[in-house]
Amino acid sequence: MILSPSLLSADCGKLAETLKALEAAGVEWVHWDVMDGHFVPNMTFGQHVIKGLRPASGLFFDVHLMIEQPERYLADFKDAGADMLVVHAESTVHLQRTLAEIRRLGMKSGVALNPSTPLSVLDYVLDDVDMVLIMSVNPGFGGQKFLPATFRKVSELRAKLNAAGRSDCLIQVDGGVNVDNTGELVRAGADVLVSGSAFFGFPPFNERLAAFNAAAEQK
Ligand code: DX5
Ligand code: ZN
Repeated sequence: MILSPSLLSADCGKLAETLKALEAAGVEWVHWDVMDGHFVPNMTFGQHVIKGLRPASGLFFDVHLMIEQPERYLADFKDAGADMLVVHAESTVHLQRTLAEIRRLGMKSGVALNPSTPLSVLDYVLDDVDMVLIMSVNPGFGGQKFLPATFRKVSELRAKLNAAGRSDCLIQVDGGVNVDNTGELVRAGADVLVSGSAFFGFPPFNERLAAFNAAAEQK
C-alpha cells in the first residue's frame, strides 16, 4: 500500500516545511487537491503554487484535479511538476482524449469517479489509465465520513481490471480513509490510499505512516 497524504489538511503557511517533513518520515507520494469552485464548491491551490513548491520536494506529486474542463490546463500542470494527473470522468466530455494527452505530456494518467458514478464509464478507456481513483466521499472538503459502498466498488473494480488484463492499473481511494478502514480497503484491492485529516491530525508523521502500514497488513 502507498499512502498519499492530502495537503488539503496541512498548514498552508508551511507547505515547504511539511513536504520536507513528509519525505523525512518515509512518505513517497503526496496528494494535491486542486479545486475550482465550480466542479466542487470549494477552492484551493493551482498550478502556480505547485510549481513554486516543486523544488522543495522529491516526493511523487499526485495531483487530483477537481475542476471543470481539466483539458485546458494539462500542460500547465506538467510544467508545474506533476508526476500524475487525475481528472474526474464527470468533468470532461472527451475523457479518452484528455487521458491520452496526459500521457503524451509525460505524466501518469488517472481517472477519478464520484461515489455515484458507475464503473462502466471506464469500459472504453482502460488502456489509457495508470490509476483509477475511487472517491469515498463527495469531493470538495476534507474530514468527511467514509461511504461504506466504497468497499464493494473497489472489489468490483479490481475484478474488472484483472479481467481486462490490467492488473497493473493502480486503484486509489480518497475521502474519509483512516487506520480503521485501511485493512478492508487493501483487502478489497486498493493500492494507494489518500488521507488528509486522519494523517495530519495525528503527528508525528513517521508514527502515523507506520500505523497506516500496520493496518494495511492486517489479515
Ligand atoms: C476531497 C479530497 C480529498 C480530501 C481527503 O474532496 O479529494 O483528497 O482531502 O481528506 P480526508 O482524508 O480528510 O477525507
Ligand atoms: Zn483528493
